[in-house]
Amino acid sequence: MITLRPSKPADLPFVVGLERRPDHVDAIGQWSDLEHLATMQSPKREHWIIESEGTPVGYLIAFDCRGEDAGFYVKRILVADKDKGTGTLALSKFLDRAFLELRAKLVWLIVREPNERAQAVYRRLGFKRFDPVGDVARRFNDAGQQPGAGTFRMLLNARDWEPLR
Ligand SMILES: CC(C)(COP(=O)(O)OP(=O)(O)OC[C@H]1O[C@@H](n2cnc3c(N)ncnc32)[C@H](O)[C@@H]1OP(=O)(O)O)[C@@H](O)C(=O)NCCC(=O)NCCS
Repeated sequence: MITLRPSKPADLPFVVGLERRPDHVDAIGQWSDLEHLATMQSPKREHWIIESEGTPVGYLIAFDCRGEDAGFYVKRILVADKDKGTGTLALSKFLDRAFLELRAKLVWLIVREPNERAQAVYRRLGFKRFDPVGDVARRFNDAGQQPGAGTFRMLLNARDWEPLR
């Protein structure tokens, strides 16, 4: 069973070990130890360990942007073994909590154009490409992050969320 539990400072070696794995360095953002530790302790940020039967198999970082009317921003998700359903299940657990427990209006993220596997996972869960402009774009940029070159946003509204069975 895939579950999420809050990351603790003692999880840092697992988290940075996975993030800095040679096959991950070019695939996802790289943070310092301090950035991870600060995020684990921030009231407006979430740092989760993804576990399979109680063993860490990945992590997920999200920013709580509800105060800025920009829902939750999933900053990063990374799993050790790909294509076994772990990422889909982990993100769906996060979405259950965001939408059903915390009543968030939306969850969004930024994905790289060539990352077709991640896009497949997000689409399966109901995310759609989201390219706001003007004030809306500024709100999402300020609350979370601005998409860089070769990346785009995807968004899932609460009303479109169908929990996995
Ligand atoms: C993205 C990530 C979290 C997804 O987790 P995962 O456990 O590998 O994904 P799952 O096994 O749940 O699902 C993978 C899906 O992608 C599909 N897929 C795999 N490779 C694909 C490709 N090249 N093109 C299209 N779809 C692809 C699989 O068929 C599967 O879809 P299905 O369930 O409908 O069959 C994981 O691959 C990962 O950590 N990647 C590296 C970091 C990363 O890219 N993070 C996201 C940054 S935005």
